[in-house]
Amino acid sequence: MKKIRIGLLGLGQIGSGLYEILISKKRQFEKQLGVSFEIVRIAEKYPNRRRKVRPPQSLVTKDAFDVVRDPSVDVVVELIGGTTFSGEIIKTAFKEGKHVVTANKALLAEHGDEIFELAHRMRRWICFEASVGGGIPCLKALREGLVANNIESIYAIINGTTNYILTQMTETGMDFAEALKGAQKKGYAEADPTLDIEGVDAAHKLAILVRFAFGGRVKFSDIYSEGITRISSDDIAFAKEFGYVIKLLAIAKKSKNGVEARVQPTLLPKTHILASVNQSFNAVMLRGDETGDVMFYGRGAGPHPTASAVIADLMDISKRDIDGPVDDETVIRALGSEIEIKSITTILSRYYLRFYVIDQPGVLAGISKILGRHKVSISDMIQRERSVGKVVPLILLTHEAPEKDVRAAIRVIDRLSFVKGKSQVIRIEEAGS
Ligand SMILES: NC(=O)c1ccc[n+]([C@@H]2O[C@H](COP(=O)([O-])OP(=O)(O)OC[C@H]3O[C@@H](n4cnc5c(N)ncnc54)[C@H](OP(=O)(O)O)[C@@H]3O)[C@@H](O)[C@H]2O)c1
Repeated sequence: MKKIRIGLLGLGQIGSGLYEILISKKRQFEKQLGVSFEIVRIAEKYPNRRRKVRPPQSLVTKDAFDVVRDPSVDVVVELIGGTTFSGEIIKTAFKEGKHVVTANKALLAEHGDEIFELAHRMRRWICFEASVGGGIPCLKALREGLVANNIESIYAIINGTTNYILTQMTETGMDFAEALKGAQKKGYAEADPTLDIEGVDAAHKLAILVRFAFGGRVKFSDIYSEGITRISSDDIAFAKEFGYVIKLLAIAKKSKNGVEARVQPTLLPKTHILASVNQSFNAVMLRGDETGDVMFYGRGAGPHPTASAVIADLMDISKRDIDGPVDDETVIRALGSEIEIKSITTILSRYYLRFYVIDQPGVLAGISKILGRHKVSISDMIQRERSVGKVVPLILLTHEAPEKDVRAAIRVIDRLSFVKGKSQVIRIEEAGS
């Protein structure tokens, strides 16, 4: 029976989940897949810390470099996270002739060129299914099932924390701060939730998807990202009145006009299939030129779903000749020339605009005039009952307009004396529905 000897780095949430499955299903994998996965070394930063799993102490070291330099290890599974130390350790693993499996989206999004180049140069495998969509096998689908297609677009909900928060806000009417607190209590949000709520985690995953869907290098800083911290319960309620829900979408589109890639809160028609992806679930919708839309739905995070994707990668590696040199076509394609991502200011979109204004004559005319002057035309509006002299919300939906014109108009509107606070601007996507 083929043996794959694993050096496991990190015994946190995912590392422990992986350990549990590899131990509990060892016989099943041997019987069904004909491969024996053996964890031969484990690195833990604090070996004495109480953990969910208790591997034999003889396997454990404090020094991750002991693991990557151990001649008995075939595959290093990096589940530490971060970019600095994990980058160093993965590069060392390649130089030591090891194959690598990682779930580290931040590292691959921000330093992918360096990591993929080294994997290619050292002729080792790098596998990272768990880095996007946790248990959802969307990268494998891109690589294999959709190979006949040119991918035209990606619409994805790939951050469970923000999807959970927006679902709570939508279903209960609670505001963002309260929904975030609830998410933290339930373990769906970290104590420091910045990377999730500011859209950075979703942007990391989108960078990886774009790279493998469109084939080429991606500069992470070119991906525009906007989080959900400014979404209010009012916005969610008004969107609903227009027939939309608000979702944090990762969007990429490729056309003859170039490539767009961004993470943004989005008004999505409530009839759209992604609108019913709720709670902490994730979904990735890919449009191939041959298949049309294909959607993957499931748990985008969590110890067991994510470890499931890590094991799929280990399985892939076990099917290959692990001792010979590697030519990974997928990595070669992803090292192609840089994909030029259009600046956000050059895109065309429809917009939801929400203003808080003093209720007085001429307000709507004043705002419409400024929008008109910037060639932004209104398609729909909600103006609350009159409450003269008080601050009331005014909501406008626009026809398609260039982002730069909308931004210029909003800059002028925000300076009007009857406009209170910063205006809200949310893009609307019909997302091919
Ligand atoms: N959590 C998810 O649902 C999820 C989903 C998809 C992908 N991922 C990715 O999976 C990776 C791991 O995430 P996680 O949630 O499992 O993180 P985690 O719970 O924080 O676990 C990280 C582990 O790495 C250990 N570690 C840190 N520095 C180390 C070092 N120098 N040597 C050895 N061990 C070290 C930590 O040890 P101590 O406990 O002793 O500090 C901790 O056990 C990250 O890249 C993350 O982005 C996570």
